[in-house]
Amino acid sequence: MKLSNCFNFQDFRRLASKRLPSPIFNYIDGAADDEETYKRNTEAYNEVDLVPSVLKGVEDVDLSTTIFGKQISLPVYCAPTAVQRLFHHEGERAVAKAAHKYGTMFGVSSLSTVSVEDISKISSGPKMFQFYFHKDRGLNSDMIERAKNAKFDVLALTVDTITGGNRERDLRSGFAIPPKLNMASILSFISKPQWGINYMTHPKFELPHLKNYVQEGTSAVTSIGSYFSNMLDQSMNWKDAENLCSKWGGHFALKGVMSVEDAKRAIDIGCTGIIVSNHGGRQLDGSRAPFDQLAEIIDAVGDKLDVVCEGGIQRGTHILKALSLGAKACSGGRLYLYALAAAGQAGVERSLDLLKQELERDMKLMGCTSIDQLNRKNLRYRISTG
Ligand code: LAC
Repeated sequence: MKLSNCFNFQDFRRLASKRLPSPIFNYIDGAADDEETYKRNTEAYNEVDLVPSVLKGVEDVDLSTTIFGKQISLPVYCAPTAVQRLFHHEGERAVAKAAHKYGTMFGVSSLSTVSVEDISKISSGPKMFQFYFHKDRGLNSDMIERAKNAKFDVLALTVDTITGGNRERDLRSGFAIPPKLNMASILSFISKPQWGINYMTHPKFELPHLKNYVQEGTSAVTSIGSYFSNMLDQSMNWKDAENLCSKWGGHFALKGVMSVEDAKRAIDIGCTGIIVSNHGGRQLDGSRAPFDQLAEIIDAVGDKLDVVCEGGIQRGTHILKALSLGAKACSGGRLYLYALAAAGQAGVERSLDLLKQELERDMKLMGCTSIDQLNRKNLRYRISTG
């Protein structure tokens, strides 16, 4: 199977599974407990149907939207995800270049393998820095300063990782950072020699935002679950978020909001946006799908905050459904990560290109030429939402 044979999310996923040692593939692919929320995140889109209009003259479609004060060419961006160097040796650099080429935003994780300084040299386009609130206050201040100096446009504080999710695939495979061989995984690493060669022949794995403060993840091996549970501050509360927001002083979003009450409170502490997300089903299994929560959150805060819908998106039509409910934009992690793993920058570019083509085609078939023409009248629910 080749990159040119990939036409959709599942194709990239299959190619990624052929290229990656299975513990790494399953780290991306897996989720918490029984992975019900992970599945539900995508299924939710299929319970609402699009109702198209015809004879609208749709030769020119404008897919641009404005989010966190920046115009982006696509109504979807690359969500911040951790440790991309493990998925492909180009890591975050590949995603930054591809997103910049397609005129969209991308996020860089606190746990990224390329620094904010290096990323800002690669892309002058809109950038989000994803922030984990650590126990180590020196580390927190340093990360904020670095992201500010590197001219990141948005700070997104992740609020749904207060403790590690129960990711049983990772427990079985022994997935850890930096990656280590154990009895369970040795065969899977040996069976993907190309990944191993690329891993060994490129600059060493590191977590540049963390390495001067904590050993976990670079010189000490840890699982992602223990990292969350041990390094992040479980006492984090609304006051901390408010302080962070004023310290940052720019566009600030809470990532992982799921309730109307929390969305309203985000306004009070000075947020300019929220990301409705359950961390791709990787934290609280049984949590509702972001798409299912979207309408009530937008009704409550949509005129005051930029609301992003994140999770489960595999198709252009999923994005059109979220935008029809009033989301300003969508974001996704696996949406581009399988493609990154499959073929680096070329893979991410192909995934964004296919998504762009899909969005353009779907907009035309819907009878819409700009995002603001999408609204709730072009949706019908199959099952009563009560
Ligand atoms: C994860 C984190 C690191 O879900 O975002 O694995």
